[in-house]
Amino acid sequence: KELKIRKYNQIDSTNNEAKRLIISEDIDRMLLVANEQTAGRGRMGRAFYSPGDTGIYMSLIYKVPGGVKAPMLITMAAAVAVARTIEKFSDNRPSIKWVNDIYLGEKKVCGILTEAVTDLETGMAEKVVVGIGINVKTKDFPDELKKKADSLGIDKVSRNELIAGVTDELIKLYGEFDSESFMKEYIDHNNVVGRKIKYERNEDTLVGTVEEICMDGSLNVKAEDGIITNIFTGEILFFNQ
Ligand code: BTN
Repeated sequence: KELKIRKYNQIDSTNNEAKRLIISEDIDRMLLVANEQTAGRGRMGRAFYSPGDTGIYMSLIYKVPGGVKAPMLITMAAAVAVARTIEKFSDNRPSIKWVNDIYLGEKKVCGILTEAVTDLETGMAEKVVVGIGINVKTKDFPDELKKKADSLGIDKVSRNELIAGVTDELIKLYGEFDSESFMKEYIDHNNVVGRKIKYERNEDTLVGTVEEICMDGSLNVKAEDGIITNIFTGEILFFNQ
């Protein structure tokens, strides 16, 4: 199945554009790529720094047969796709900060924002927009990002080759959607087991330590009182940043 691609020199956000296109056109599958974003978005309402010529800003529109049941797994598969691509094109060993940030060492090089789009007629969410931002050669980060963000530092490979690599892996992973197999790969790359997380338990905000990532993508977190809770949302705290 051929994949339609739209390229933009500058756009507000490829995820925004993807959502506009889903509403105005009947698109099951398409890749949007921008050289620069003026309003790149991250998770939790944060901005994603998206300067021109140096990074990858891409969104894949994908129709999930039977509807989107587990957006978290779609996102986790995307993290695996990016990790595989980095490993294919470099000697770097990326790690994944749950849920979907890719790190090299202690710094973030890639973020993923998955958004499900609900069809107003059927009320079903059957299309997802998987937005991926990768700092490829970005050097001059704003002050607030300097300590936590980095670039891949891959020079020999073009951004287009990396985009093609990530897209191939995404289509492969989504086509099979064998969450058992990619979750093993995900867990193998994770950098959060043993680290602190802020999470909610019975309306209290607690800090606990991640015990393990389960096969459904959730975390088992142990609080200071020894009680283990299984959570699907929360934010990992890296205290050294
Ligand atoms: C995060 O770090 O919290 C997620 C960042 C996701 C960034 C990508 S870049 C392409 C797509 N368009 C956006 O506005 N965001 C995603």
